[in-house]
Amino acid sequence: MCGIFGCVLKNGDAAPLIHAALKRLEYRGYDSVGEAIIHEGKLYVKKDAGKIDDVHALLNLDDLPGKIGIGHTRWATHGAPYKVNAHPHTDCKEELAVIHNGIIENFAELRKELEDRGHILRSKTDTEVIAHLIEEKLKEGLGLIDSVRKSITRLEGSYSIAVISAKEPDKIVCARNESPLVLGISEDAVFCASDIPAFLPLANKVVIVENGELVVLNHKGYEIRKLADWSLVSRQPKIIDWNPVMAEKQGYPHFMLKEIYEQPKTIRNTLRLQDQYLELMTAFLDRAGEVSLVACGTSYHACLAASYMFSKLAFLATHPIIASEFIEQHGRAVNIDSTILFVSQSGETTDTLAAVEHARLRAATVLGLTNVIGSTITRVARVYTCQQSGPEIGVAATKTFTSQLSVLAQLALRLAKKRGKVSHTEIEFLEEKLEQIPDVAEALLKTQSEKIRQLSKKYRDKGCFFFLGRGISYATALEGRLKLLEIAYIPSIAYPAGESKHGPISLIEPDFPVIFVCPKDGTHRTILSNIMEMKARGASIIAIIEEGDEEIKRFVDDYVEVPKGMPEILSPIVYVIPLQLFAYYMAIERELNPDMPRNLAKSVTVK
Ligand code: AGP
Repeated sequence: MCGIFGCVLKNGDAAPLIHAALKRLEYRGYDSVGEAIIHEGKLYVKKDAGKIDDVHALLNLDDLPGKIGIGHTRWATHGAPYKVNAHPHTDCKEELAVIHNGIIENFAELRKELEDRGHILRSKTDTEVIAHLIEEKLKEGLGLIDSVRKSITRLEGSYSIAVISAKEPDKIVCARNESPLVLGISEDAVFCASDIPAFLPLANKVVIVENGELVVLNHKGYEIRKLADWSLVSRQPKIIDWNPVMAEKQGYPHFMLKEIYEQPKTIRNTLRLQDQYLELMTAFLDRAGEVSLVACGTSYHACLAASYMFSKLAFLATHPIIASEFIEQHGRAVNIDSTILFVSQSGETTDTLAAVEHARLRAATVLGLTNVIGSTITRVARVYTCQQSGPEIGVAATKTFTSQLSVLAQLALRLAKKRGKVSHTEIEFLEEKLEQIPDVAEALLKTQSEKIRQLSKKYRDKGCFFFLGRGISYATALEGRLKLLEIAYIPSIAYPAGESKHGPISLIEPDFPVIFVCPKDGTHRTILSNIMEMKARGASIIAIIEEGDEEIKRFVDDYVEVPKGMPEILSPIVYVIPLQLFAYYMAIERELNPDMPRNLAKSVTVK
């Protein structure tokens, strides 16, 4: 996730303070850094790809004079991590500078419109169009505030932006739509930032900027207006008593919990992928007779779920394969006709990259899905898609998993449309349901979290859990098992529910906990009989069910309800969330640190 920061000082220099603020935003993950300062009516910009310390050693981020400035740490979503794509971005005359966190969905058409008017856009980013839109309005004679206000009405997507101009050197204009924006207030300065840690040592009075608001910062303080009707907003600062470490987690006790709760937003971002990237990937999948889906761990579970999506929606045969087994199991079968989609949120997993290398050497078509632009997989894949989840700090994959599923669902739906295997009505229905998922996830987190926390207290001493699901829910069960196993260290078993009577059921004894993932889909009837089988042997049944599923409620000991209407083919995206939370709270109950599970690394870069 990008980080933005701006400051207006009554005295002293802004540059060193911006530099220190950007260092405090490093935890958000980034690949480039930059700052812009106004001094004596002139705009100065310094920026480059690389870590803050390296860029500082090269450009000295502290030696720009001036009391007003903005700074940015970039997490690449559009355009590789090169200097030209680093923020701030300026207008043609390099008199104004913009920094941005978010995704401008309609940037391609805005870019064309601006270039047709003669603007020279230097970068590949979506952000740069904002600087030139504002320039257009300034040319019409509007002031900076009105120029920003008019320009952002053209933007579709998410943004938190900050703008400064040498023509009006006494202010910063910022605005928010979805991407976070907070203000810090102190005696002799006012700040804007993506996140509180940026200014926490300097100001403990915080004002949260809401969606659809524009803010003007100057040496008198701050003024907030609603973009809709330009009415003034009076909002008093709140006192924040967080320490810097707490602030990085935005008040959550652990990054994992913060990232679980981020999912409505990150899924929304993933549903804003650029058309051309999805279309290109879809074209490669469409021309393949069958596709291998290769990954490790959680990413493998996403591939397993995707195999149901591609088969049911697009009649495309896909084969989920564990990356570390790929060469042994399929190595010789790979050839120029093979199409292989490699999924890796880090883009650096050694087992996955070894499989990629093998595939490339045998002239296969290598496709990639990752969360990290600039990672190895983006350089070796013929085509890749970035899932735009923002950096995931917790070792356990949570938001990156639901983002992976959201990308794969979009690809399956596009392929279905292209191949005409499913009616338009059904595709439109599923597209609509996919768009609703962020709200469904939000409702689920709001209504079920406390119940899940109580379940972790009830089952905290259990030494082993079964996770069972049928159909696509088997992938969800596997992922729930992995979460519990890797952060609460509880030996757990996941099986297709139908397989449990071919052996695993022998483990069942009174009070043995069995977790069923059972949305109201085509497998509902059969999974009910599996529940009865386990119940008959005294198992304690926890069911993840659709809200109001009275049929299952009657037979289980505990249940967690997912909002109604989630189609089977999309269900893992939401049904996994209770299992993520259960694993998190079980770790807490066992006084473990969910962010740093023993023996594990965030990216497994060893064989
Ligand atoms: C998931 O919680 C684990 N951190 C691990 O299984 C992970 O999914 C696996 O190592 C794959 O990582 P990747 O997606 O970065 O390739």
